[in-house]
Amino acid sequence: MKISRVLLPVLVIAALFVIVSCAPAPAPTSAPAAAPTQPPAAAAQKTYKDMTLCYPQLGAESDWRTANTASFKETAQTLGIKQLVFSDAQQKQENQISAVRACIQQKVDVIALPPVVEDGWDAVLTEAKNAKIPVIIVDRSVSAPKTLYASHIGSDMVLEGERAAAEFNKMMPNGGAVLELSGTTGSGAAVGRAKGFRNKLNPNIKILDSQTGNFTRAEAVPVMQAFLKKYKAGTDFQGIFIHNDDMGIGAIEALKAAGVKPGDLKIVSVDGTRGGFQAMVDGWFQADVECNPLLGPQVFEMALKLMNGQTIDPEVLTNETVYYPDKAKELLPTRKY
Ligand code: AHR
Repeated sequence: MKISRVLLPVLVIAALFVIVSCAPAPAPTSAPAAAPTQPPAAAAQKTYKDMTLCYPQLGAESDWRTANTASFKETAQTLGIKQLVFSDAQQKQENQISAVRACIQQKVDVIALPPVVEDGWDAVLTEAKNAKIPVIIVDRSVSAPKTLYASHIGSDMVLEGERAAAEFNKMMPNGGAVLELSGTTGSGAAVGRAKGFRNKLNPNIKILDSQTGNFTRAEAVPVMQAFLKKYKAGTDFQGIFIHNDDMGIGAIEALKAAGVKPGDLKIVSVDGTRGGFQAMVDGWFQADVECNPLLGPQVFEMALKLMNGQTIDPEVLTNETVYYPDKAKELLPTRKY
């Protein structure tokens, strides 16, 4: 059979087409499908059950302090935290520093530190920072750099002193002289209150003398007795600014023994404890500037945030007021401390 020159290329192409279409399919070369991607596991949030919080309390010097300790112990129990590491430094900074170091060794989650005095914390706060344990300064302030601690929760002590001065300005418009029975020397509470008092006291009111009673009833008694030997009540001085209610109660003991009667002197104290309210009911205190010790709930809440890496406020100041004798009787039964 003769195939024409025109048909030959057509037949070749057709044959090739048949060969290619009958060839076996090539083996698949693509990689096996990847496993479906999972979202990364969210970091587990810590709860109060995971929390070990260290509270190296500064002492048991006053009713305020007793209420502050109770607030921490009760809140720890209510929230069901893993452990509250509590100690009492008996108003000695070296005891507080040792307690903080023991908590660092124990690798607690958070340290809440109520510093007895302002200065001298840099070294131990640096140790806590190096150990990555956040510190919340509670109640009184420290002079250490703010980079060494996470936050401060407490009262505005300067404002408290200013509020006390405002009371004397109202009660002694024609001026006069006052004594000051001050708190623990070098403590944020005493330094702040003394500063605020001097900031706002009218220039016609003179501070005749100022001595520390270390925030305790027992130490306030001899200080007041010594004042009364040196100065005549009502003549040399007309008022007393007392940095806390416990010292106020000690001072009243000395005043009574010296024959001073309620109302003979203008007395302004700080705290707003039941004892302070009773002193207003009895006519001894003309005003009591509030300082709230019930800080446990706020501190534990912030500690949990720190454990979970959440942002917190670097300074949380308690909202406080001034109490007066006119409401003291009515409010006394409602006081929690
Ligand atoms: O730091 C708070 C002060 O300390 C309170 O006013 C006082 O009562 C306590 O001892």
